[in-house]
Order: sequence, then C-alpha cells, then structure tokens
Amino acid sequence: METKIFTIDPLNFKPEDLEYAASVINAGGLVGFPTETVYGLGADADNELAVKSIYKAKGRPSDNPLIVHVDDIALCEKYVQKIPRKAEILMGRFWGGPLTIIMKKSKHAKDCVTAGLDTVAVRMPSHPVAHELIKASKTGIVAPSANISGRPSPTVAEHVIKDFNGKIDCIINSGATRYGLESTVIDMSMDVPTVLRPGAVSLEMIREMFPDAVYGGGGTGTPKSPGMKYKHYAPKAKVTVIKGEITKAFEKSAENVAVIDYDYNKDLYKGKIFLPAGCDDSDYGARLFYLLRKADEEGAQVIFAADPKGGSNVTDALRNRLYKSAAGEILVIE
Ligand code: TXA
Ligand code: MG
Repeated sequence: METKIFTIDPLNFKPEDLEYAASVINAGGLVGFPTETVYGLGADADNELAVKSIYKAKGRPSDNPLIVHVDDIALCEKYVQKIPRKAEILMGRFWGGPLTIIMKKSKHAKDCVTAGLDTVAVRMPSHPVAHELIKASKTGIVAPSANISGRPSPTVAEHVIKDFNGKIDCIINSGATRYGLESTVIDMSMDVPTVLRPGAVSLEMIREMFPDAVYGGGGTGTPKSPGMKYKHYAPKAKVTVIKGEITKAFEKSAENVAVIDYDYNKDLYKGKIFLPAGCDDSDYGARLFYLLRKADEEGAQVIFAADPKGGSNVTDALRNRLYKSAAGEILVIE
C-alpha cells in the first residue's frame, strides 16, 4: 500500500487541506494525524472493520479499548448514555485538551471500540489539525497512539512514518506535538473522579474542582485502565532511571551509554551520548519519547535517565511513562 504523506502547518491551513484525509476515514481507512499530546492512528469509530484494522496494524491486544475523539459535545453525546454533571464541568474547564473522560457508553458505541466494557473513553483534542479532521469526517475518530504496540508513542510524524509507512493510507505531518505524553484518562462513570492514567491535566488540577478525585485503585496510584498493564514505551536500549548522580552509575556499565538529563548538567557527560531533557519536567515530558527513540538511533545499549525533579503539572505523567519504559529498573545512588 502506498502511504500518502501530507505536510500541514497547524497555524496556517485551509479546511480543504484535510479533505483527502477525511475521505480516507470515511472510506474505512487509517490516518496518522497530530494531536497536542502524541500522534494518533485514526479510524471511523462507527466502522467495525476500520476499528479492527487499527488493532491489527498496531499489534494491539483486543481487550484494550480505544479513545473516541470528538470535535464538539453533540458528537460526544452520541457515544455516551448521558454526560454526568461532573464530567460536564471537566469538559468546560479542560476541553479541547489533553483530558480523556470515561463515561457509561450508549448503544451507538461499538464493542470493538470499548473492548466490550460498558463504558467509553472520549476526548476532544485542542490541536487544530485534529479538530478539523474530525469535523471534516463528521464522525467520532478512534485513535490510539500511532506506534506499534510496546514502542514509545510518536511525537513527530517521522516516528509514525517509521512504524507505519506502507501499512496505512495516509499520514499528516504537522511537526512536533506539544505535550509529548498521552492524555490524562479519568473515569467519571462512578461517583468518585478516578484518574486511571496521569497526563498533562494533573490530579492536583482536577482536585481544584473535585477535592475527592483519586488515582485509580483507591489512591494507590495503580491504574486500572486495561492499557496500563502492558509493557510500554520500550526502546531497544535498556532504560535505567537514576536517582542521584548519574556519573557514579557509569562504573556499573561498560556498554554504550546514553544519558538523558537536564540541559544544565550537560558538561558532566563528555564522551557519552547526551540527550538533553530541557530545563524542567514540562520539557522533559515533551521530549521523553523522542529521546528514547533517538537513543536507539544513536546505537546506545543502555540509557541512564535522570529521575524527574518535580514541580510541574506533568511530573506524575512523566514519571509514570519513564518508569514503565524502564520496567521498574531504578538505581538509587546515595
Ligand atoms: O493522548 C492520547 O490519549 C492519545 C492521542 C492519540 O489522543 N491516544 C492514546 O490512546 O493514548 P491509547 O489507545 O494509546 O490509550 C488509551 C488508554 C488505554 O490505556 C486504554 O486502556 C484506556 O485509555 N481506555 C480506553 N477506554 C477505556 C475504558 N472504557 N475504560 C478504561 N480505560 C480505557
Ligand atoms: Mg498507546
């Protein structure tokens, strides 16, 4: 299959520029497209064959439900029984943006989308290209992150091209995504707002509106989204999170090491592959997946990654993804 690749400037495009991609969605095809979090692999949420082809293309386990992306509340209402009052408040504050809301599903939401659950996940992206694509398609678009299952999520179109060129109909290149980490997933199908996956909308921000909000599993931080149980975000190189001075960890590794750390520590790593995380956790979050893939390209066998320093709304999300990519491998240096 030939994959058509379009470059679209998110700050300067016309609705017509998305006509082709929308026609692919309407014909049951797959489109790689940008959102403000990561690139998504989109299909028509109402077309069972198209939805199933997403699982196939990604190699995704079929018990892992998908997020329906919408461009307005009316479209959201098609997929849910009734929008709970508290969910409506969250939508008012955080939509469009990096917040996915789980609600009781309507009959319209297909089992292949929800993996047979009685709830459905819905999100309204803020990215203008994503927004316009949904609008032009006139249907909800299911979109997991546009990576082969298990690999780091794509934050630039080149990652999508690497994983899916020749396998999907169309890819839209709109440059780097803003947050670089997937959306916060919050379950609003029960009374207590429960965050199942941390993202740029932090638990703290949600607690400003609902002080009883918790992380899934009753505040233990153990997520109950099906997707959170799988091996995730893994580059080929072995990732170790370092708490403490990274230079002291070098003695423990003779292999080809890449270091992910904040820019201001750069001079400590002469002779090593240095992958700059930026100045704070928002930068680090935006770059994490990019840097994990970069380490592989540079031929690193081992990645030593600085533990996030905290102080940002994305810190929990960054730590969650980083620790998963390290499969819990954390080295504490006193
Ligand atoms: O930022 C994002 O959310 C990106 C962009 C493309 O929008 N999408 C994304 O999709 O990360 P995906 O499929 O990689 O992750 C969806 C997560 C999974 O952990 C899945 O288990 C969970 O949402 N999820 C979906 N529906 C659910 C439901 N009904 N109940 C619980 N968890 C659900
Ligand atoms: Mg994913």
